[in-house]
Amino acid sequence: MKEQLHALQSEALGLIAEAGDIPTLEGLRVRFLGKKGELTAILKQMGQLDPNQRPVIGQLANAVSAEITEAIQMRREVLEAADLDQRLRAEQLDVTIPGTAQVIGKRHPMMKTLDEALDIFIGMGFTVAEGPEIEFAANVFDKLNTAEGHPSRDWQDTFYFDQADKHVLRTHTSSVQIRVMENQTPPIRVVSPGRVYRKDEVDATHSPMFHQIEGLVVDKGITMADLKGTLNALVQELYGAGTKTRFRPHHFPFTEPSCEVDCQCFKCSGAGCSMCKGEGWIELLGAGMVHPNVFRNCGIDPDEYTGFAFGVGLERMTMMRFNISDLRLIFENDLRFLRQF
Ligand code: DAH
Repeated sequence: MKEQLHALQSEALGLIAEAGDIPTLEGLRVRFLGKKGELTAILKQMGQLDPNQRPVIGQLANAVSAEITEAIQMRREVLEAADLDQRLRAEQLDVTIPGTAQVIGKRHPMMKTLDEALDIFIGMGFTVAEGPEIEFAANVFDKLNTAEGHPSRDWQDTFYFDQADKHVLRTHTSSVQIRVMENQTPPIRVVSPGRVYRKDEVDATHSPMFHQIEGLVVDKGITMADLKGTLNALVQELYGAGTKTRFRPHHFPFTEPSCEVDCQCFKCSGAGCSMCKGEGWIELLGAGMVHPNVFRNCGIDPDEYTGFAFGVGLERMTMMRFNISDLRLIFENDLRFLRQF
């Protein structure tokens, strides 16, 4: 049995030294040291031994087992180190190789301007109201004190939907004033941004679809001073402190008195240039004190309440904000243009 154990030991140690990977090594462990392994098989013959030989053989078997165990352990460490080394080399990362750029989108300059303007209004206590683009002619014209045959129905050059002229693509966001006043009781302080439509040919300053922000304030004792203060605050915030405004008398059917508000030209600071056509001023918006008839049409008593309203073109605001000279650029979505903002 001694010889058997020695033979087993030298065979095992030889194979372990040659084992090329961990699974092979594990196989050898099972083969030599496992419950059904070769060492156990030899030890099963112990019964046949002379009793005084047994402790000697037992001791030898233990020593053989310990040596094989240790050899496996050492070989395992060598193999694991080699394995790790190889993985590190295979998975080597070159941090100097340029990465793949991620394309991140941006807000459209007009949406940036809208966000800024809404922030300013919300800061002044306004809430945002919405209205439909397909609108009753009554809300776009009649209830805004613009009766059938009124010249403004012409100059607005409206897209009509039906023979009865009942539905139109709204020509301005002023229709939302009606919806708000019919559904809310004063005090009212709302702004309403959205698309509007007119039968205009496309050129550097016209488009059949554009955007406005409507504003409406109704309360007891509202005056033209509130209108001027509010619009001046907007202009100062949007175009910088010190930006001058000019309020000119004008006519709108739904306000009395009415005005147009100009902003000092951002390009020439009022000296006169091609942008402002030599005027030094650029028209920004229409505004006025809500006409008593409009209040009456919405069930609000004009003897109790007064109010102001305004409508500002969002494209115009954006062009002034970012020094854009042609309206078409805003709608063409040419990335070379949009990436600049
Ligand atoms: N709705 C007018 C337009 O589209 C702009 C406007 C003028 C709106 C005066 C108003 C206002 O609310 O009071 O030209």
